[in-house]
Amino acid sequence: MSESISETERVVVLDFGGQYSQLIARRIRELGAYCEIWPYTTPPHRFQTPSVRGLILSGGPSSVYDADAPRCHPEVFELDVPILGICYGMQLMVQELGGQVERADRGEYGKALLEILEPDSPLLKGLQPRTQVWMSHVDSVKKLPPGFRVLASTEATPIAVIGDDARRRYGVQFHPEVVHTLEGNRLLENFLYRVVGMRGDWKPENFVAAQVESIRREIGAGRALCALSGGVDSAVAAALVYRAIGDRLTCLFVDHGFLRKGEREEVMHTFQKRLGVPLVLVNAADRFLRAIQGVVDPEEKRRRIGHEFIRVFEEEARRLGPFEFLVQGTIYPDVVESGATPGAPTAVIKTHHNVGGLPPDLRFRLVEPLRSLFKDEVRAVGRELGLSETIVTRHPFPGPGLAIRVLGEVTEEKLAILREADAIFLEEIRKAGLYEVIWQAFAVLVNSRSVAVMGDERRYGYTVALRAVTSEDGMTADYFRFSWDFLERVGHRITREVPNVSRVVYDITSKPPATIEWE
Ligand code: XMP
Repeated sequence: MSESISETERVVVLDFGGQYSQLIARRIRELGAYCEIWPYTTPPHRFQTPSVRGLILSGGPSSVYDADAPRCHPEVFELDVPILGICYGMQLMVQELGGQVERADRGEYGKALLEILEPDSPLLKGLQPRTQVWMSHVDSVKKLPPGFRVLASTEATPIAVIGDDARRRYGVQFHPEVVHTLEGNRLLENFLYRVVGMRGDWKPENFVAAQVESIRREIGAGRALCALSGGVDSAVAAALVYRAIGDRLTCLFVDHGFLRKGEREEVMHTFQKRLGVPLVLVNAADRFLRAIQGVVDPEEKRRRIGHEFIRVFEEEARRLGPFEFLVQGTIYPDVVESGATPGAPTAVIKTHHNVGGLPPDLRFRLVEPLRSLFKDEVRAVGRELGLSETIVTRHPFPGPGLAIRVLGEVTEEKLAILREADAIFLEEIRKAGLYEVIWQAFAVLVNSRSVAVMGDERRYGYTVALRAVTSEDGMTADYFRFSWDFLERVGHRITREVPNVSRVVYDITSKPPATIEWE
């Protein structure tokens, strides 16, 4: 694959607001085909390019009978590319092509047994004759449009899979993208390779060469600035742009004083020593601490830290500049969630884009080279570019850092305590081989003291709360089930090794109702 991403052959997921649209796209990419999510309002002419090889109509919360049900342009169904409708997508296709959808009062949710009636259909080749699928729908298809046949049924849903082989139109009532549909990947694979005929050469690693070329073209002889956060996205974006334009890229790393133990050294080491990227470190800890002195409200802390960051950034950009370009580690879920139309990365460099709160004389053009990648793909690209595993597999870390993990007023003493406790927790997690199965793990310094008996003395010490969660995307999360031995070991080490900590507790709430962070 040497063409630019805008020319890469793709399957487009037309998004009708379904909660699984991103999951469909991820599955398709995992199966080796490039996939993008486009809004259902996309005008039909945008599909008429050789790079769009097939369409998937996503599910969605609406009924086709709702007055405000999302509908794509009817011409979409006339396009000369294969179409697979999933759940709502199937019902919409049926209605548009002359079939009938039945409105029901009660839906069908959960596991169902699918019986294959047409095992030779290209969509169902190789599936078990009876296979478990995951249903979540209210309405059902009642009458097929002309040219369609029923390919599979479940007990409650006789018309569960439909197809018109000649026109290459298919529909499934269940969700092939979720893990509870045991052979969902096989079905999607059939659609990609037996129906659409994709090449199957999408790999995030291949993306590097093409992307380096397009960044080079865009930036030309210009200079670019990138603010590193220590997180994986900005690190990979910077490494990629560095590969393209070398030391015409300057990286800025603002130490706001709310970083974890060893974080600053690690970022410096990776970028300066390992990759040789020019890196400017700004030590602004005093300034940030002053900015939030006495502040206890978490949103106010966030606001002041954000504001201070912009000011530091502004000063440094003036001092080191001029720069025409600003590199950001925006990734695909950010793009999809913001409702922007994803396009080729060549199209994302917006002229005169004014970055949040910057004055008019500091206008940059944005370079967001990871805009089309999912998190896992960003990690694969990072490895390809030579970033260390520590950076590539790093847990997400909030911009305001430890300032929102010290509950209440933030002081240097409290930050120091939290940093130590957090480092012990993470060290034990790594030692136990659990770092990569956990989405985020961290310590929180609770805003009240508790009694401790130390020797013969009664003292008031701080309480440290430990938080570790598993999650797919941070939107929902479950607390991680450590063994009692593990928790005891960590608790013991923290009370013994960190001065002034007298109590350690473990947070066993999921999200919802709690959030991942405490503040
Ligand atoms: P919550 O606490 O809302 O967190 O469940 C969801 C995800 O967002 C991160 N988070 C933040 N990230 N600035 C950030 O950059 C913030 O102010 C912030 N607050 C929460 C959190 O770490 C988790 O990954």
